[in-house]
Amino acid sequence: MKNSRRNFIRNATLGTAALSVGGILPGLSSKSYGRIVGANNRIVVSIMGVNSRGQALARNFALQENCEVAHICDVDSRAIVNCTKAIKDRQTMVPKGFVDFRQSLESKDIDALVIAAPDHWHAPASVLAMQAGKHVYVEKPCSHNPREGEMLVEAAIRYNKIVQMGNQRRSWPNVANAIQELKNGAIGNVYFGKGWYTNNRGPIGIGKIVPVPEWLNWDLWQGPAPRKEFKDNLIHYNWHWFWHWGTGEALNNGTHMIDLLRWGMDVDFPVKVSSNGGRYRYQDDWETPDTQVINLEFDRGLAMSWEGRSCNGKYIEGSSVGVMFYGEKGSLLIPAGNSYTIFDLQNKVVKEVKDDQKIDSRNLSNPAEQLDAIHIQNMFDGIKNGSKLNSDVDSGHKSTLLVQLGNISQRVGRSLNIDPKTGHIVADQEAEKYWSRTYEKGWEIKL
Ligand SMILES: NC(=O)c1ccc[n+]([C@@H]2O[C@H](COP(=O)([O-])OP(=O)(O)OC[C@H]3O[C@@H](n4cnc5c(N)ncnc54)[C@H](O)[C@@H]3O)[C@@H](O)[C@H]2O)c1
Repeated sequence: MKNSRRNFIRNATLGTAALSVGGILPGLSSKSYGRIVGANNRIVVSIMGVNSRGQALARNFALQENCEVAHICDVDSRAIVNCTKAIKDRQTMVPKGFVDFRQSLESKDIDALVIAAPDHWHAPASVLAMQAGKHVYVEKPCSHNPREGEMLVEAAIRYNKIVQMGNQRRSWPNVANAIQELKNGAIGNVYFGKGWYTNNRGPIGIGKIVPVPEWLNWDLWQGPAPRKEFKDNLIHYNWHWFWHWGTGEALNNGTHMIDLLRWGMDVDFPVKVSSNGGRYRYQDDWETPDTQVINLEFDRGLAMSWEGRSCNGKYIEGSSVGVMFYGEKGSLLIPAGNSYTIFDLQNKVVKEVKDDQKIDSRNLSNPAEQLDAIHIQNMFDGIKNGSKLNSDVDSGHKSTLLVQLGNISQRVGRSLNIDPKTGHIVADQEAEKYWSRTYEKGWEIKL
């Protein structure tokens, strides 16, 4: 097991050195990352939320030779059992299970919390973890609403902790190379970018209020979100499509692609945002759009758009998910995997870079384990050596905000003017209501 782990790490970290993209957290010197790594130079992690993505992450963290998964936390007792079994072949230590992740945070042995609970938990759990002295790997989107993203950025500075967001493509070598090609002028000045996600998701039906199953702590599942009665079509996964907990396809999958566009086009905040779409395909409880186009304009004379089709999986540019950059001299495609293609203005392929690894972009929990390991190792390097994070919380928040603004525009039904210096909505009181959320009493985030 050890040897294969070692080879895996070697392969997985190849190229990491060349990947110093993104930035170190503002205000933190490399020295301030000091402390923390436990005995044997291992990073000891606790994983929160292990049904699907969290289990995949647990397996990946367990595979890393310089890491131990010591705690597994879930409010679904079955998920703890399943995840413990799932990492058995990858580490000798048997992790301790916790229903309440706050108990895990009390342990001095834990260096970092890995968060793959639903979106309404991302920022509140990240802040609690930092306050307990832990670093954080938080799945995308890093927040449920813009205010939470701002608080996360502030918390990382205040508590002097690193926070890596789980938009792992930032660490995939050929994706980073593609972005570098753009910066080197491979297609000239880039003035438009398009991202997309397509799938064939089925209906979720009309939920019935039913007794809470004995395996679930529903109160702690809800945590910061104001209380609602338990329905039989929410858990697991379908919460993504309810504004109360989820953020829709736009933040579920759009965050990945908008992040690549923002990276490649080198922009922060837009001046104008609009969105069209709706829940068109089925009539059921699903609240967020299943069909959506978000448009973002920036003040340097450039724009980007994202198209999401949750219920019609027709590929765009031969890929279920991807981004295309359009420039003065040609265009550059990054499809689902760790690859890219450059075209000239006559649609001729002028360069194609491929990766042999198969990426299954429709695998909901673990599309690309080896590549994602680079992102994990990048976080460890940040913790141990103060190396630059490929997706620090400042950058993660900016990308998440772009899609959040798209959703706010969608919800108020009109385009929004944005202050390009701050990312804030200009003069639209109704839209500004969506900047933050109401919390269940006692669960407000306090910095
Ligand atoms: N980066 C990626 O490629 C990627 C891929 C898939 C999912 N994700 C993200 O991962 C997150 C989880 O997605 P999923 O598909 O696994 O969802 P899921 O609903 O299948 O699993 C969420 C798990 O969190 C648990 N949970 C809820 N509240 C909790 C709490 N207070 N403490 C501990 N556990 C709690 C649930 O019981 C469940 O087991 C989402 O935010 C999603 O956006 C990221």
